[in-house]
Amino acid sequence: MVTTNSADASGVRVHEICKSFPVPDAPGTSRVALGGISFSIAASELVSLVGPSGCGKSTLLRLIAGLDVSDSGELLVGNKEIVGPSAERGLVFQDPNLFPWLTVRRNIEAGLAARGVLREKPNEVDEFMRLVGLEAFANAYPHHLSGGMAQRVALARALINHPKVLLLDEPLGALDAFTRMRMQDEVLRLWENRRTTMLLVTHDIDEAIYMSDRILIMTQAPGRIDREIDIDLARPRDRTSDLFLRFRREILEHLHFAGKAADLSL
Ligand SMILES: Nc1ncnc2c1ncn2[C@@H]1O[C@H](COP(=O)(O)OP(=O)(O)O)[C@@H](O)[C@H]1O
Ligand SMILES: [Mg+2]
Repeated sequence: MVTTNSADASGVRVHEICKSFPVPDAPGTSRVALGGISFSIAASELVSLVGPSGCGKSTLLRLIAGLDVSDSGELLVGNKEIVGPSAERGLVFQDPNLFPWLTVRRNIEAGLAARGVLREKPNEVDEFMRLVGLEAFANAYPHHLSGGMAQRVALARALINHPKVLLLDEPLGALDAFTRMRMQDEVLRLWENRRTTMLLVTHDIDEAIYMSDRILIMTQAPGRIDREIDIDLARPRDRTSDLFLRFRREILEHLHFAGKAADLSL
């Protein structure tokens, strides 16, 4: 049994997690997506996960979210084993997945309403709309929103549950480069404000360096941690500084050295 410090109640521990999936066109066979992956995230830490397409990043996030079960290994938040979905673990995807027939306010309220706690928290929705800068859009519908604004609604909807852990699966992947950089600052501001433990999957190495305390680089499938890099730069970070570019070079060289340059898909 793996334990984490119980004071570290929102830390995440991933211990030798394996996960296979049946191969659809070869009945009776399976493919290993995660091959015994292990790492920890401290409470309030912001960690990025980068790795080639298909190495199991989304699978891992789904397991931590409790949306799927592993074949073996242990997953803990604090010292509690993950046994299913919970409001204490929020998940945000590349697609904001908003309800198109609901206003911004109703979209943000939806999670609270589903859990039957909306009435206890009348001011929270306003607070979270302010937090993500959407108070003027409370009555707008999703089709009125830009991609960046829709993703802010998705973040507010996840954060309003006060998750201990926020799992972000390429949340800014569909945004144009300038909106994306602005949203990186938004997410950092939310993180600094709330100190939620965050695990961010990204294909963007600059984004990983700009945002993270630590970057975990995965191997090709079956996914495991190949390399761990502490980003010990003060925030706000300068994307053009020598130190920033040194991290960039280090990560790119690592990926090239691993012989993945031709099909990086990063
Ligand atoms: N539900 C599923 N059924 C079958 N195979 C799956 C399923 N989910 C993921 N996989 C396979 O697991 C591997 C890892 O997928 P995924 O976690 O989506 O990778 P990533 O997010 O790193 O691109 C891929 O080979 C993918 O086809
Ligand atoms: Mg994925």
